[in-house]
Amino acid sequence: LVLGVDSSTQSTKAVLVDADDGTVIEQRSAPHPAGTEVDPRAWLEAFDAATAGLLDRAAAVAVGGQQHGMVALDAAGEPVRDALLWNDTRSAAAAEALIAEMGGPQACADAIGSVLVASFTSSKLRWLRDHEPDNAARVAEVLLPHDYVSRHLAAPGTAAFTDRGDASGTGYFATAAGEWRPDLAKAALGHEPALPAVVAPGAVAAQTPTGQVVAAGTGDNMGAALGLDLRPGDVLVSIGTSGVASTVSRSPIADGTGTVTGFADATGGFLPMVTTMNAAGILDLQARWLGVDHDELAMLALQAPAGAHGVTLLPYYGGERTPNRPGATGTWAGLTPRTTRADLARAAFEALLCSLADGVDALLSATGDEPQRVMLVGGATRSPAVRTLAPAVLGRSVLLPPAGEYVARGAARQAAWALSGAAEPPDWPLADTETLDATPAPAVRTAYAALRDRV
Ligand code: XUL
Repeated sequence: LVLGVDSSTQSTKAVLVDADDGTVIEQRSAPHPAGTEVDPRAWLEAFDAATAGLLDRAAAVAVGGQQHGMVALDAAGEPVRDALLWNDTRSAAAAEALIAEMGGPQACADAIGSVLVASFTSSKLRWLRDHEPDNAARVAEVLLPHDYVSRHLAAPGTAAFTDRGDASGTGYFATAAGEWRPDLAKAALGHEPALPAVVAPGAVAAQTPTGQVVAAGTGDNMGAALGLDLRPGDVLVSIGTSGVASTVSRSPIADGTGTVTGFADATGGFLPMVTTMNAAGILDLQARWLGVDHDELAMLALQAPAGAHGVTLLPYYGGERTPNRPGATGTWAGLTPRTTRADLARAAFEALLCSLADGVDALLSATGDEPQRVMLVGGATRSPAVRTLAPAVLGRSVLLPPAGEYVARGAARQAAWALSGAAEPPDWPLADTETLDATPAPAVRTAYAALRDRV
């Protein structure tokens, strides 16, 4: 058996899996504080709670985690302050400053594979230097969330380690070359912090105190790609706290427009990706405002016609990064005295799906690959309205893998890979996927694009 863990923005999930074929034996989860700024020690408590009774049954373990978060540690290995997470936009101006210092967006993308946004670790380090210089001066080591949890699980004295997938979201990793750029970390923070060792895909990174194999772990999006066995030509659309469209590629990209981040994946390849900051939360808010639960929200939305009688929403409530508008708020347009609650519900689903469809388009223009398959995952896929509207708004049929913890499954698959010592990850067949079809609704996207470009 192997154990895969997803230390996500909201909670920690652990899946105990049969290493031979990927069958899930048992899974547990534990909450931890969410938000945009969190004491990273809470993740360790949640890890212990979620893995109790599972970890000791596993021969190998790996941790996937939310990307980008700044875990800044002092010389004693204690956090100098709460971790600033990927969804914290206070570092937007710092990202701009760093891009300018690097010679502009294209130079930045050429150096690290992506154009920096507020989410990236280096932007957060610069914010720290500018706004909390005393804390910045105390930083001895900078880890990503999954690195911090992995070290907690490894034998005492183990030096920190990471993988190229999560490293590629820091802003100080040359993604194409697969090497740290300590000079960029230094430029961001003001002095050079210690960085974790980058462990090769499929390698053994460490051992637990009782001799279990620990693999490198990875970022959540790379974990999901590994868990779903994403191949070139596949596009994965994931609706979680963030919305993500990603694809696997054998060669690196460097999109100077900044829309597509050119991350590394967990297998030795690359994971071009588009991320929106507002996703499942759009539906949560809408349900709250209409005073309904998610089932009722879906029922309401399906009562309204495509286009919600002209009501259009730009759902950039928490600021947005695709398009890159860190200071944005939500915008509603087309409200009339005839607007119904059903229209309001419908517009929220259409907004969510239009923002993801924009992401799929951007991915295609950056990689030049027409997708063979679009897979849709995330808790929101339980909603009948998401299932009905996704193929219509995305304009193509959509594959729905069975519900599952794919980040944790990917981490488990990485653990099984390290345990096997093989050159490739083990073959773990996916249970049957459902195919969703619908008549495309291009007018919905046209209305969304018009408002997006006007506001
Ligand atoms: C990716 C990103 C998010 C987080 C979510 O760039 O910021 O998808 O990884 O945990």
